[in-house]
Amino acid sequence: MDCYLIDGGAKLSGTIQVNGSKNAALPILAVSLMTSGRCTFRNVPVIRDLQTQVKILNTLGIESTWHGHEITTRVVDTYNSTAPYELVKTMRAGVCVLGPLLGMRGQATVSLPGGCVIGERPIDLHLKGLAALGAEVTLDQGNIHVKAPRGGLKGATVYLGGKFGSSVLATDNVMCAAVFAKGTTVIECAACEPEVVDLADCLNAMGARIEGAGSPRITIHGVRRLKGVDWTVIPDRIETATFLMAGAITRSPITVAGGRPDHLLAVLDVLRQMGVEVKRSGNRMTVVPCERPKAAELATLPYPAFPTDVQSPILALMSIAQGTSIVTERIYPDRFMAAAEMKRLGANIAVSNGQAVIQGVERLSGAPVMASDLRCGAALVIAALAAQGQTRISRIYHVERGYERFEERLRKLGARIARVAEDAPQSAVAAAEA
Ligand code: EPZ
Repeated sequence: MDCYLIDGGAKLSGTIQVNGSKNAALPILAVSLMTSGRCTFRNVPVIRDLQTQVKILNTLGIESTWHGHEITTRVVDTYNSTAPYELVKTMRAGVCVLGPLLGMRGQATVSLPGGCVIGERPIDLHLKGLAALGAEVTLDQGNIHVKAPRGGLKGATVYLGGKFGSSVLATDNVMCAAVFAKGTTVIECAACEPEVVDLADCLNAMGARIEGAGSPRITIHGVRRLKGVDWTVIPDRIETATFLMAGAITRSPITVAGGRPDHLLAVLDVLRQMGVEVKRSGNRMTVVPCERPKAAELATLPYPAFPTDVQSPILALMSIAQGTSIVTERIYPDRFMAAAEMKRLGANIAVSNGQAVIQGVERLSGAPVMASDLRCGAALVIAALAAQGQTRISRIYHVERGYERFEERLRKLGARIARVAEDAPQSAVAAAEA
């Protein structure tokens, strides 16, 4: 398996264009199940998770053609409404076909997602919401079966908050199923993430009647059918934050273009607290680096608070900050695998009970490390860019699930990074630049 080889210390420069949002595109592609019309989805990132989603949809009777960042879909048959375990086990987000299938076809079967390295990934809130609409929910041999009653789903009011607060994909699933329910559905404690808003906006463009997306109360008035859509996915706020961290940690005034600063206010606020200003001009964000960032404290919480997906990347920046930072992970308390690997690079991080205490060090030192999930992998790349010497990051297939041509785009900014075979020599970075 390939790995990244990174010679740290290089200054970055230039501009990087942000891709479309993985976490918006995944549920938005699933709306192709909710219409007999053709759909065109634009600004779709070319990454492993979206390739998996296309395969899942294909097994459900959706034919897709993919040109660059554009996917067109049409329904060719509706015989199968079971999302295959072999695919869903590789990508938990495959569960987002549940609501669209139930709403459109009256039934769906999806394997119960297992856990993953960031923690248990239950779907009890998804099932609570679908049951509130009248669906019969059964569990059989690891598969969840949901079935609408004979008269179809009925609108209802349902509270979707769990012990960790709102749920993004549960909100998506219930919103999609409610589009065709008779009457009105109100989702209380709905997720407010921009990706939920993008999905609602896309559904409304297809003829749905959804109000309040982006607020904790979403109201869905049932309609009979949806037409096809031509939809452009919002920019990826997590990718934007990842590149901003890369600029901050290497003290480089890079510009990240095509993003949505208004989707990143919590991240920009923490960077400001750390002494890293980000100049905004329309959809362009330019890092104003400081000599050495200052420590900060944060807790990850549902949007609009600090996103859990930027927790690992900010740990990398905090590991070289001046002073002691504290990060409390309130969404996935076990999501600190990146900290363990960063300690191999010389970071001083103590993790206990869902909290990391980071004593900033002057400098990290390169070493072999291993990615455990996509955000951990991205964070290790960020740390390696600033580390002295060379870092070898293995299991980079995790990173490639969520970041398109990651090393190529970083290299264009001047990063000394190469994607090489596991046993490639240390000189492979220079060779890749030749
Ligand atoms: C989405 O996952 C994102 N994935 C995740 O990004 C992100 O980390 C997460 O939201 C939180 O922001 C996609 O959008 C494809 P949740 P989702 O349901 O919807 C608990 C990445 O790196 N919960 O909002 O699956 C859950 O365990 C990925 O791109 C229940 O208890 O997350 C967690 O603690 C990783 N019961 C919290 O709620 C449920 O039924 C938030 O989870 C559902 C969730």
